[in-house]
Amino acid sequence: MAHIVGGLAASHIPAIGSAIAKGLQQDPYWKPFFDGFPPIRDWLAQVQPDVAVVFYNDHGLNFFLDKMPTFAIGAATEYRNADEGWGIPTLPPIQGCVDLSWHLIDHLIEREFDIVTCQEMLVDHACTIPLKLFWPQERCPVRIVPVNLNTVQFPLPSAKRCYALGQAVGEAVRTWDSDAKVVIIGTGGLSHQLDGQRAGFINKAFDLQFMDSMNADPEWATQYSIHELVEKTGTQGVELLNWLAMRGALGGAAVQTVHRNYHIPISNTATGVMALAA
Ligand code: DHB
Ligand code: FE
Repeated sequence: MAHIVGGLAASHIPAIGSAIAKGLQQDPYWKPFFDGFPPIRDWLAQVQPDVAVVFYNDHGLNFFLDKMPTFAIGAATEYRNADEGWGIPTLPPIQGCVDLSWHLIDHLIEREFDIVTCQEMLVDHACTIPLKLFWPQERCPVRIVPVNLNTVQFPLPSAKRCYALGQAVGEAVRTWDSDAKVVIIGTGGLSHQLDGQRAGFINKAFDLQFMDSMNADPEWATQYSIHELVEKTGTQGVELLNWLAMRGALGGAAVQTVHRNYHIPISNTATGVMALAA
């Protein structure tokens, strides 16, 4: 059966794509952010995952406000990136893992998660930028299964529901008849708000407690309603739902923090990155 090697989480800001394209990793503004990644890349070089399940939220590239699934899974042979209007370079297509996609879809439907199945799916910066940060080479060396959570248009799925989705994905991966090594990724967050009266809102105390909880008390954030999470983390900070789904997939056994980094701000966002060994 397939084996989950661990979990990764990272913020996903379009400006990171421009910084990579311009080679600004050592620039004083960017260095404290990019410095979070080399120890995680070293770990990935050791554990060598074959496949990544990526929990992320689309921002209008594939799903627009007229049709917004709560949960959607890709089942495509490859996933293309496209111009999102940020002026960031389009990244090469990423290979899909169709066999795992259908295994996940079958298992989730069986477990009464009514997901949308996408045999074609564009992936935006929330999927491509974290992959580029973890694997900076020209072509992403892992095949992916993208799992899209609606963190954008209300009503959003609860934190408890996203954690449960992650748990069901974890069960499915562990029963996948394959000798592949799988890493689970969650992207987005941490606290940020891009618009409205609280634009620029950041909550360092909450973010650090949330990062601690990933290791010590993984269900901690599920005590909060969506409105409480928006209040504590900002209208876009609620993207931390993707981190929670990732953590749910790692299961109840203890995990080890390989490395973590927190830096304020990049663009309007408090950035976090974390690798957990299962
Ligand atoms: C920014 C953050 C995001 O999560 C996003 O999807 C787009 C932009 C930002 O801080 O600029
Ligand atoms: Fe975002």
